[in-house]
Amino acid sequence: MEGKWEEIDQYARQWIAEAGQRIRASFAEPLTVETKENRNDLVTNVDRGIEQFFAEHIRRQFPGHRLLGEEGFGDELAALDGVVWVIDPIDGTMNFVHQRRHFAVSVGIFEDGVGQLGYVYDVVFDELYTAQKGKGLFLNGEPLGRLQPAPVAESIIAINGTWLMENKRLDHRPLVRLAKDARGTRSYGSAALELAYVAAGRLDAYISPRLSPWDFAGGMILIEEAGGIMTNLDGKPIDLLNRSSVLAAKPGVHEEILYRYLRG
Ligand code: IPD
Ligand code: CA
Ligand code: CA
Ligand code: CA
Repeated sequence: MEGKWEEIDQYARQWIAEAGQRIRASFAEPLTVETKENRNDLVTNVDRGIEQFFAEHIRRQFPGHRLLGEEGFGDELAALDGVVWVIDPIDGTMNFVHQRRHFAVSVGIFEDGVGQLGYVYDVVFDELYTAQKGKGLFLNGEPLGRLQPAPVAESIIAINGTWLMENKRLDHRPLVRLAKDARGTRSYGSAALELAYVAAGRLDAYISPRLSPWDFAGGMILIEEAGGIMTNLDGKPIDLLNRSSVLAAKPGVHEEILYRYLRG
């Protein structure tokens, strides 16, 4: 790896580890929970504190880099030129508040829109998924194999039950057919973790009709390095600056979902 990325990678790992320690330490402190867009959209003092922690460190160490984050400590980005860190300080805040597990810190680092370094850190299980462009996927430093094609009939598909019911966002019927045909379905409540699981082969596909860049930026780099495929639900490339639907899967499963179900 080029020296520049080696240096960025070292800092990213150090800050993610420290963020994890801070989050674990927060379990012993009182939590302030507020709502954002609706009563189920939660944010805590810890989400904000961790994003601020990253923002301060990135700005001090790499003043030329920019940050896109969920909680408002980042920059207003109109384009993806230069080095951009896309950070979700806690992905799965509802799990963090209610369950104190099944949430992650997600970081994706891009240069001119190209994913270079990706991290998803499961803080409670102490599982750090990392990927460097062209170097493959690692879990706690151990290389993971490339994803092999599989059929839907032998797949576990991560999808939130909401999207299998009639809803305003999309036609649920193709997804109901897909859920029936799959070996099983799961929903973990953290897009970043679910993408990391697809990359690691623990899940075969993940589907969401509406995510924000910080939900999928880190996971997207993991998926790419694992040999998986990630597009929106129309099969088009994901736009990193805007909300997007996401279909991330092993090869084979991705095409089958897209052509037999979503376009079928
Ligand atoms: C949420 C999680 C969840 C997804 C939501 C996201 P947050 O992120 O990734 O799995 O279904 O759309 O908003 O708010 O916990 O960071
Ligand atoms: Ca949130
Ligand atoms: Ca999120
Ligand atoms: Ca979040």
